[in-house]
Amino acid sequence: MPMIGFGVFQITDLQLCEQVVSDAISVGYRLLDTASVYKNESAVGAAIHKSGIPREEFFVTSKAYMPEMGYEKTKEAFERTLSKMGLDYLDLYLIHQPFADYYGAWRAMEELYKKGLIRAIGVSNFPSDRIIDLCYNTDTIPAVNQIELHPFYQREDELEILKEYKIQPQAWAPFAEGLNNMFSNPVLTKIANTHGKSVAQVILRWNVERNVITIPKSTHKNRMEENFNIWDFELSDNDMAEISKLDLHRPQMLDTRNPNEVKRVYGFKDNPVITSL
Ligand SMILES: NC(=O)c1ccc[n+]([C@@H]2O[C@H](COP(=O)([O-])OP(=O)(O)OC[C@H]3O[C@@H](n4cnc5c(N)ncnc54)[C@H](OP(=O)(O)O)[C@@H]3O)[C@@H](O)[C@H]2O)c1
Repeated sequence: MPMIGFGVFQITDLQLCEQVVSDAISVGYRLLDTASVYKNESAVGAAIHKSGIPREEFFVTSKAYMPEMGYEKTKEAFERTLSKMGLDYLDLYLIHQPFADYYGAWRAMEELYKKGLIRAIGVSNFPSDRIIDLCYNTDTIPAVNQIELHPFYQREDELEILKEYKIQPQAWAPFAEGLNNMFSNPVLTKIANTHGKSVAQVILRWNVERNVITIPKSTHKNRMEENFNIWDFELSDNDMAEISKLDLHRPQMLDTRNPNEVKRVYGFKDNPVITSL
């Protein structure tokens, strides 16, 4: 699994999405991260096919959303995803949220995994207690937990638990989508200037040094290149210590433990995009 991938959340225009993914592939990205709820799986699949690069060189991730949870529904959802992407297997399939009948979903995913239709199965947005509970009640330990993780929400304790269970952490929104002026943060800017790198590169490198896989999103090719090229420098212990002080110790984007947030996520009942899954 590559340490750096490319995410396509909020790129809903299919033509733009295909172009952006084609650009990302030409830059060198091979891990592509989509989800049924992003409504752009077909564009990601089209860009893979048009690249002419053999399928096995890619690492393709998609995710099943709440209306797709449950043994039968997840099997159907997986078929739908494969068909939209024009693929005959996925490298990684994730339960998108720790809600709804995800145990039923997991049983379906285990079957698909055993049949070789999914190379690895995992979860997303699972707090540690939910992960541990899942591990105690299923035959297959999740390969990955994809979670909100960035310098303002570092989740040190949770990373320790994932390590204990040998679950690979993957950071979504590694830049927190630029919230709290992430790209002009003085601490990150100072470290970036020391190394002659950008703030984005420092953030991605900080993840690599914590063994966290990232999936930054950009619609700009120059930024895709910048985000991909983080292999010629290392952060010092002092840099890591300075970054650790930026932790606000709480989610900035999605708190699956907050009742109002759960209601917001379940707003799909009024959301035509999600009800049409
Ligand atoms: N599992 C989940 O629940 C979940 C939730 C959210 C996201 N994700 C995944 O994680 C991926 C990444 O998260 P995200 O898209 O929310 O946010 P993100 O990667 O933290 O931030 C993307 C934003 O940063 C900007 N950007 C990217 N590179 C930059 C650079 N080098 N310099 C300055 N600005 C830069 C982008 O602008 P431009 O596009 O204009 O360049 C975009 O506005 C998603 O695409 C998705 O695949 C998963």
